[in-house]
Amino acid sequence: MPFPLHRPRRLRRTEALRSLVRETRLSARSLVYPLFVCPGTNVRDEIRSMPGNFRWSVDRLVEECRSAFDLGIPAVILFGIPERKDEVGSEAYAPDGIVQRAVRAVKKAVPDLIVICDVCLDEYTSHGHCGVVKNGEIDNDSTLELLARAALSQVQAGADIVAPSDMMDGRVRRIRGELDAAGFTQTPILAYSAKYASAFYGPFREAANSAPQFGDRKSYQMDPANQREALREIALDVEEGADIIMVKPAMPYLDVVTLARQHFDVPIAAYQVSGEFSLIAAAAEKGWIDRERIMMESLTSIHRAGADIILTYFAKEAATRLRC
Ligand code: PBG
Repeated sequence: MPFPLHRPRRLRRTEALRSLVRETRLSARSLVYPLFVCPGTNVRDEIRSMPGNFRWSVDRLVEECRSAFDLGIPAVILFGIPERKDEVGSEAYAPDGIVQRAVRAVKKAVPDLIVICDVCLDEYTSHGHCGVVKNGEIDNDSTLELLARAALSQVQAGADIVAPSDMMDGRVRRIRGELDAAGFTQTPILAYSAKYASAFYGPFREAANSAPQFGDRKSYQMDPANQREALREIALDVEEGADIIMVKPAMPYLDVVTLARQHFDVPIAAYQVSGEFSLIAAAAEKGWIDRERIMMESLTSIHRAGADIILTYFAKEAATRLRC
């Protein structure tokens, strides 16, 4: 027998061969583009720690959505930066809140673009927490009512999918009940099921000015050390009626993505969060890494780990690259 019999390199010799046997293929069709919307007109305010990402006023947001859609990106997820914040995050569920206005404008201008709304209070509360504060703690059950109102108002404004990111217990069931009672039985819920209390959200909190004013989010977001608990969280959300589940952040939690893929048959999303984006952007700016290759490799790894859908601030850049 000639040695060696097996030569894995045979299938790596040319790009044509490599492409023939490639196991994972990224597509712009599975990307979701996160966008921040703020009051005013003609605003395109760059986020310092997330170069190339902006706070958009509704009019400019519509243009950005159209340009993403034209690149083959099927969906955006919207985060609102309200005019005023208060104790109970009123603008999260105001019929004419910033996100509600944005959804109406985007759906009117680009009807076939899927508009996902993040359901949470932190961008809207003066204390920056994702729920109602009672006696210095984040009160689970009184928060559910407000989340349900926020989700309903977003769907009434035209949102195609609602995505609760608050990590309160029981919120998926509460939101499902609220939507069904109002006749929105066909609107899917994308649940941030395994959302970790991560330092990788730093730049987002700068963008949305939503850092907690006291304490941290560890009493509701998951401990980064836990893997089994993610399965429990996902199982609960699926039971409560989640249509799509999400793991967040993505790259530091690829084991969780893979485990979720093995245990559940619902579509799985992963969120390459602000800090993941900023690390790559900053190192590339310094000339230490190849931005485009690292971008594609990081997205491929998330897809390979088992995510069907990827939320990423690189959405437009990756879609442009995937076109060529
Ligand atoms: C909460 C929410 C956050 C992110 C998405 N939804 C912030 C947080 O939990 O502090 C973070 C996304 C990112 O870092 O890109 N509304």
